[in-house]
Formats: sequence, structure tokens, C-alpha cells
Amino acid sequence: MKRNLVSLLDITKEEFFTILELADRLKAERAEGHFPSYLHHQSLGMVFEKSSTRTRISFEVGMHELGGTALVLNPDDMQIGRGESIADTARVMSRFVSAVMIRAFSHKTIEEFARFASIPVINGLSDREHPCQILADVMTICEHFEILEDLKVAWIGDGNNVCHSILFSAIYTGYEVHISCPSEFMPDADVIEIARSRGASIVLCDTPEGAAKDADVVITDTWVSMGDEMEEELRRTIFKSYQINSKLMKLAKPHAIVLHCLPAHRGDEITDEVMDGPQSVVWDEAENRLHVQKALVLWLLDKVA
Ligand code: CP
Ligand code: NVA
Repeated sequence: MKRNLVSLLDITKEEFFTILELADRLKAERAEGHFPSYLHHQSLGMVFEKSSTRTRISFEVGMHELGGTALVLNPDDMQIGRGESIADTARVMSRFVSAVMIRAFSHKTIEEFARFASIPVINGLSDREHPCQILADVMTICEHFEILEDLKVAWIGDGNNVCHSILFSAIYTGYEVHISCPSEFMPDADVIEIARSRGASIVLCDTPEGAAKDADVVITDTWVSMGDEMEEELRRTIFKSYQINSKLMKLAKPHAIVLHCLPAHRGDEITDEVMDGPQSVVWDEAENRLHVQKALVLWLLDKVA
């Protein structure tokens, strides 16, 4: 059966860690200047309904480093923009490329594409999840902590797509996720329910301070995700007290690290002082997108050497 990563729930705990171990190996090999062409003559089609810096670059450079090719496709330039169905596009692309990555506004678009494609389909961000990001986040956390089960991970801010994936990651990692979000912007109730029913430890906190207290890992994301721009003013007012700043970080453990998937809105969800400070690991987190994306494509195509 073909493999997909539309949701983090598409893979098992064992597969999750297989991908991360492979990413570690690829990172070490790359540091030594070793670039094995595991994907010679393979190609990845990438469809972007929304902007991207990290996702696009990491997959494109990653495919190149593995000896393959990546194509960036803008739906407006494709016949999809003139009404060709998702199903037919999936069937046709399956005849040309080895795998497809899609960044879409609606999660349903990616699910539909995966249903009709005969090749692996990767979710490069939807309104519901960002599984590729969370692979990089957990890789980064593992670079700082040996035992994931003991960690308190604090999510502070919007209960959005990235938050959903962090909640799902707790199923595999065993860390406890403490979330503090305004009541209007809590994660979807069904995500919390599914994650808990599969063993994730999730604590809902009343305040950002409660979530940050004694945390090992503090994570946030933009208050205004792509597609939320109409609510920008309202959101910036409601989220004001959810900023990751030095005062909040004093409550976390002294060794705590700070993650942000980026792009950051400095002065909103995170201050310059924290983002550029010693606890910030955001640049390693961004780099790790490259290593996990390479590992993911190799695993999806069953090319793990
Ligand atoms: N974190 C992330 O997915 O970044 P891009 O939107 O730049 O791809
Ligand atoms: N939550 C953000 C993540 C961007 C990588 C968004 O959806 O825009």
C-alpha cells in the first residue's frame, strides 16, 4: 500500500521515529559533505496554494541533494485554476512524478488528492495540520533532551494547525503538552479528543503563565495564520497577553528552549529578546526542516537505505 503523510496520524509511532532517525543520519552525512543519490530519477511535485519559504526550500534543496528533482507548481498556472478537478489532477500527476507535496487552504483538498493519487502525498500545511513542521520540531527537541516522556511542552497562543500537530505528536513522544490559548482560539475539540484517546497527555491551562511555569519547551506561532488576515486586528487585541517575552520565560525551567515554526511576527507573539536570545532554537528548527523532509520522502518512497 502506498504511504502518505496527510496527517501525523497516518504513521505509527515506530515510523515517526524511523523518519527522525533517518533525518539524524542524513544531517550527519551532509555535515561530512556526503550526498548519496538515493532518489536518482525521482521527482517531487509541489503544489502551493499559499506562500512558503522554508517548506519550499527544504523540499526543493532536499530533492536536489538526494539526486532527484522538485517541481514547484502554482495552482493558478495549472488547469486546476480553470476547473480541472482535484481527482483528475491527482490521477495525472501520479503518471509523471514520484510523490506530491501540497500546501492547501483546506485539509479536505489534500485528503481528496491523496484518495485519487497512486503516489505518496505529503501535507505541506493545511488549515488543520502541519505534520512536516512537527517532525522538525521533535528532531530539534531531541537534540536538547534525551528523554521525551519527562518533558513539559508549553504551547502558548493560537490553537491553530501547528498546535494541532504538536498535540498529535504527543501520542508518539509521550511528552505532556500544556496549552494556553484564548477561549475563542482553542484547538479543535476533536483534535484534543483524538489525541487524548490515543494516549496523549494534554493539559488545558487558564493562563500563559500556568503553561510556561517549569516548562522545558515553549512553543508559539503567529497570531494570524494564512487565511486569517480578515481577523487580524481582532486577533492582535485578543492575543496581546499571550506574547513569549523574557518575563514569561523566567517562569520556565532555566534550560528551557523556545521553538517557533516561523515566519515570526517579532513584537507580537515573540519578542526580539527571546527570538534572538540564548534559549531560542528557531534557526536549528528551520534547518531541521531540510533533514526531516529528505528523510520523509525517502521513507514514503521506501528508499531507506
Ligand atoms: N514553517 C513553515 O512552514 O514555513 P514556510 O511557510 O516558510 O514554509
Ligand atoms: N500557522 C501558520 C503556519 C505557517 C508556517 C499558518 O498557517 O500560516
